[in-house]
Amino acid sequence: MFASLSRFRRFLRSQQLVKWSFSLSPRSLANVASSQSERKTVIDTKLDNHSLSIQWEDGNARFHYLWLRHHCQCNSCVNPKTKQRTVDLTLIPKQMNPHDVHVDSKLLKIIWMDGHQTIFDVSWLKENAYDGGGLLCENQPETRFGSISHESDMTLWDRDAIAGKPPKEFLYRDIIANNKEVLQESLNDLFRFGFIFVNDTPTDEESTLKICQRIVGPIRETPEGRVYVIENKALKDSDLSHFSNALQGHTDFSFYNDPPGVQAMHCLHHYGTGGMSLLVDGFKAAKTLYQENPAAFQILSSFPLRFLSSHFFMQSQGTILELDPFTRALTRVRWNTSRFGPLTKLNLSFEEMEKLYQAIRLYGSIVRREENELWFKLTPGKVLLVDNRRVLHGRSAVQGPRKLIGYYVSMDDYIGKWKENRMKT
Ligand SMILES: [Fe+2]
Ligand SMILES: [Zn+2]
Repeated sequence: MFASLSRFRRFLRSQQLVKWSFSLSPRSLANVASSQSERKTVIDTKLDNHSLSIQWEDGNARFHYLWLRHHCQCNSCVNPKTKQRTVDLTLIPKQMNPHDVHVDSKLLKIIWMDGHQTIFDVSWLKENAYDGGGLLCENQPETRFGSISHESDMTLWDRDAIAGKPPKEFLYRDIIANNKEVLQESLNDLFRFGFIFVNDTPTDEESTLKICQRIVGPIRETPEGRVYVIENKALKDSDLSHFSNALQGHTDFSFYNDPPGVQAMHCLHHYGTGGMSLLVDGFKAAKTLYQENPAAFQILSSFPLRFLSSHFFMQSQGTILELDPFTRALTRVRWNTSRFGPLTKLNLSFEEMEKLYQAIRLYGSIVRREENELWFKLTPGKVLLVDNRRVLHGRSAVQGPRKLIGYYVSMDDYIGKWKENRMKT
């Protein structure tokens, strides 16, 4: 079945390192789209004293022996039920070399010097090739500065886009009936638009909580408790939302190091005027910032600020635009200017402070452009779920008694559920 190469033994005999020169650089391999269907033939494999090189028709990559041994997928290295890696990295011998290597068009089989066997699908190795990347290299293949993580699964919007094609509104009874298709569709739409509505919901805490649990995941408590109650009575002094003032578009709990991923809001009653709700697509605004002033985008995604809650003695550090550390695509907007800590000791030069202010003010002005603002009235029975990583929410000043309740779900629970959901649909 396998064509035995036994190159390593020959290498040991010859004690000569093979010099490599490929027509394609390692980086070009990593750039190759890695779908299973695009299975390119392995032309050659070579071994030296610490790595194995694979040459495909369209590129090549090296793999450290330690990396290959560590990534073994056999049942003694990965628990077959939980898929957790059980190989003990510290116990892999320092000098772990192959005794024998076999390769065909699909599989690479390594018999290690201690007799352990490792089998890789060569297309998996190609997908996961790391040769040519690294922090010291410029133009990393995965660098997508200015882009948005999972952008193809999102519809970035402004006021006109939503007016032209409003997202579907869901019904409480369908959510509670555990209708699988509806639950999947609602979660997909939440990720796609950054918000959804669930109508005809009973005006009580329990029903609102159930929507959150069914669509997204377990409730995350805050210092305010399991349910977040906002009444414009100013009985609490923990947040401006408890007063009757207008609130600019913001994300919640910016002073957490891991702000919630989703917020559910339900206005149980309002006997008065004002209290219009506002949504703004913070990712769309970030994209506009990047298009209009890439340097400002760079500043807001590079310099961490402090966000404070003096009431809860909490403080977080983070950039306004948070990027994935691996891909550099935008993953979260943290936007609440009322929670900024003192802009001091930020590792900024005197000149950079000026640029930071310019960038913050530019993003703030984009967010407040009329064309980006979606205003509506949250009426009793209409539950709003908002992606708190992406979509900013706010309100106009409130007159008259109003009670709004809210629940939160963590970002990890939200994104995990969405990914699981996406696999199924
Ligand atoms: Fe809020
Ligand atoms: Zn193994």
